[in-house]
Amino acid sequence: MRSYAERASWIRKMFEEGARLKEKYGADQVFDFSLGNPDLAPPDAFQQALEQAAADSSPGLHGYMANNGYLSTRKAVAAQVGREQECELAADDIVMTCGAAGGLNVVLKAILNPNDEVIVISPFFVEYGFYVENHGGRLVTVKSGPDFRLDPAAVEAAITARTRAVIINSPNNPTGRVYGEEELAGLAGVLAGKDILLIADEPYRKIVFDGVRVPSVMKFFPESVVITSYSKDLSLAGERSGHIAVSARMTDKKNFTAALVMANRILGFVNAPALMQRVIEKIQGQSVDVSAYQRRRDLFCQILADADYRFTMPEGAFYLFPESPMPDDAAFVARLAEERILAVPGRGFGCPGYFRLAFCVPDQVIEAAAAGFKAARRQKAETRRQNSVS
Ligand SMILES: Cc1ncc(COP(=O)(O)O)c(C=O)c1O
Repeated sequence: MRSYAERASWIRKMFEEGARLKEKYGADQVFDFSLGNPDLAPPDAFQQALEQAAADSSPGLHGYMANNGYLSTRKAVAAQVGREQECELAADDIVMTCGAAGGLNVVLKAILNPNDEVIVISPFFVEYGFYVENHGGRLVTVKSGPDFRLDPAAVEAAITARTRAVIINSPNNPTGRVYGEEELAGLAGVLAGKDILLIADEPYRKIVFDGVRVPSVMKFFPESVVITSYSKDLSLAGERSGHIAVSARMTDKKNFTAALVMANRILGFVNAPALMQRVIEKIQGQSVDVSAYQRRRDLFCQILADADYRFTMPEGAFYLFPESPMPDDAAFVARLAEERILAVPGRGFGCPGYFRLAFCVPDQVIEAAAAGFKAARRQKAETRRQNSVS
């Protein structure tokens, strides 16, 4: 655990740096883009459903239930995921979980034997490494292609006899990329006929911009699960609510689903929180006002472009992943902190040379940070000029 804490030190370092800066300058003078904790209020429909669920005093509503969750909730979720994935799903294809983090751990517990390998595409959500090791597996990282595209040939080159799963995350944290049908078809070709599970981690599916469509993964991968949560699209991160959907075409679906249910139980989750299940059943398909994230993305991109940063325009989620103007991304993040701007170095996502900015903060924070981004970039350019003269 000590070595894990050291490996995950970037988030902790930024948290400590943020606390220090906020103490020194006041919270409103620090521009904190370090955490992916949504700031938008959940939609009104959530509040109404919550009040209704809380007012219901029927007996048994707070008791234990089947480990995969309420049947009525799973029915509603199956219908919604079926629409998104363009396929027929039944209630028994769904396991309600404690967020996507819970769902990922349940799936990995169900499939991994000691030393089995799980491929992830870098840059990636750093917790994947811990989740895989929780269940005796080994994380294998594969670089994404240009503009953070999925590179099926690179995945193919990383496959061994021990490969048990590939995790993809689209819309992506930290890059904002959405994988298109062509990329998915390429990867499907690589995995076809192999005993490798495709795990699609999709907590940002509903947060997409400019009408971008997130393709169905179940259409391309018969051996797949889609893991979703309500943390990001409904701003309910603290409520720990999500689900796993199992592809209806999976070969050994019955045993696999039974393994998920068992894993949910013995990992100590037992079942996803009852009250939230009753609430989200009523508001399937809803999300926060995604146009607010799109507006912030546009604002942030303009500010970064004006200051001469290089970046790929995010198509979804609420992160930017610009190139670090200094070769050492940690040094550049430290330079930004001098401007009271908090970011996370790309090495924290297995991808040095970049830095991540989370734009789930009010527009004013982004606007107020503009001068700091310029100053950090300008100083870097001046240092380079001086170095080339000397
Ligand atoms: C890509 C990705 N997967 C999973 C999670 C975990 O989300 P949850 O709160 O649903 O457990 C996050 C949270 O930031 C994430 O970014």
